[in-house]
Amino acid sequence: MPEPIGISNLPNQRYKIVSREGATFTLMVAGESGLGKSTFINTLFESDLIYPESNATRHKAPLQKTVGIDITRAELREKNFTIRLNVIDTPGFGDNVSNNNSWQPIIEFLDEQHNLYLRQEQQPTRASKKDLRAHACLYFIRPTGHTLKPLDVEVMKKLGTRVNLIPVIAKADTLSPNEMLEFKSRIRSIIEAQDIRIYSPPLELEDQAAAEHAKQLIESMPFAVIGSEDSIEVSPGNIVRGRQYPWGIVEVENDQHCDFRKLRSLLLRTNMLDLILSTEELHYESYRALKLQSDENGKAETSDLKRTANPKFLEEENALKLYFTGQVKAEEQRFRQWEQNIVTEKNRLNHDLEGLQSEIRKLEENIRVLSIKKGVK
Ligand code: GTP
Repeated sequence: MPEPIGISNLPNQRYKIVSREGATFTLMVAGESGLGKSTFINTLFESDLIYPESNATRHKAPLQKTVGIDITRAELREKNFTIRLNVIDTPGFGDNVSNNNSWQPIIEFLDEQHNLYLRQEQQPTRASKKDLRAHACLYFIRPTGHTLKPLDVEVMKKLGTRVNLIPVIAKADTLSPNEMLEFKSRIRSIIEAQDIRIYSPPLELEDQAAAEHAKQLIESMPFAVIGSEDSIEVSPGNIVRGRQYPWGIVEVENDQHCDFRKLRSLLLRTNMLDLILSTEELHYESYRALKLQSDENGKAETSDLKRTANPKFLEEENALKLYFTGQVKAEEQRFRQWEQNIVTEKNRLNHDLEGLQSEIRKLEENIRVLSIKKGVK
C-alpha cells in the first residue's frame, strides 16, 4: 500500500476553519399584521430577542406592533461554535383597505441587501463585508381554514424569487387537526398551481436517515406553528412553553399539537448550511447576474428592450404605472373636492350677503319711518 498523501485530512482542516470563523445566519419573518411573528422568534430562540422595552422594563409591556423593519442581532454559542444571528422582523401588512404595495418595503429591503453586498464585493478591499442577505424568510399565513388570500399569493410569489421562502401557518392552536390537514393541502395546491417558489430541503440520497428526515419536512410544509412566551407546568416539575386555555394546554414542542420542532430542526439543526449556501449560489447569483448584465447594457434603449423582455421588469413597470395612475386619480379627486368646496363657500357667502342686504334695507326703512315720525312731531 503506498503511503497516504493526506488529502483525507481535508475535511478536518475545513472543520477547524469553520469552527474558528463561525457563521452568520439571517432569518426574516413576514406576513400580515398580528399573526405572532415576533412571538415566534422569541419562542424559537427561547429568549426575549424581540422586545420593544429596555432590559429593565422587560415583561412589563406586551409586544408592540412592528412598524418598521427591525433588525436584531445576537450571538449563539454552542460547543465552541458561534452563530452570528440576525433576525429581521418586518411590519405586518394587510391592515389597510387597499393593501397594494404595502409589502413593497420588504421586497426592496431584500433587493437592497443583495445590492449592498455586490457593491462591497466590487471594492478594492473586501475584508469585512456587511452582509444582511436573508437566508430564509418565514411567511406567516393567517389560520383561516379556507384558502390563501390573493395578497398572500402576490407577496409569496415575489419573496420566492428572492429568498428561501418557508410558508408557515400561524396560530396553529386555532384550527382542529382535521381543519389543519385540509388547510395545508389547499395551500400546497395553490402554491403548486400559482408556481410559487418555496424552499425544499434537499433529499440526500446517500444518507437514508437524512433523506427520511428531509421527506418528513417536505411533507409537513407549510409548517403549522404555535408561539408562546409563557412557561407552563404541565405536571410536577415538567415545565413547557405553551398556551393555556380553559379546556387545556397547547404545547409548542409537542408534535401532536404543531410542527414547531420540525421547523426549528430545519432552520437551526439540519438545513442551516443549505439555506446559507443556496442563498449565495441561487438567489444572490441570479441577482448579481441580472444586475451586472443590466449595468453593462446601460443604454436606455437596450434597458427598455430588456424591461419588456424580462417579466420581472414588466411586472414592476406595470405596478409603477398602476401606482402613478392611482396617485393621479387621487389628486384629481382632491382637486374636484376642492373646487366643490369653493362653489359651496361662494354660495354660502352670496346667501349671507343677500341676508345682510335685506337687513340693511330693513334698517334703512326703519330710519325712514322714524325720520317721518320725527318730522310730523
Ligand atoms: P405585527 O408586529 O403587528 O406584525 O404582529 P406580529 O405578527 O409580530 O404578532 P405578535 O407576535 O405581536 O403577536 C400578536 C398577538 O398574537 C399577541 O397577543 C400574541 O400573544 C398572539 N399570539 C402569538 N402567537 C400565537 C399563537 O401561536 N397562538 C395564539 N392563539 N396567539 C398567538
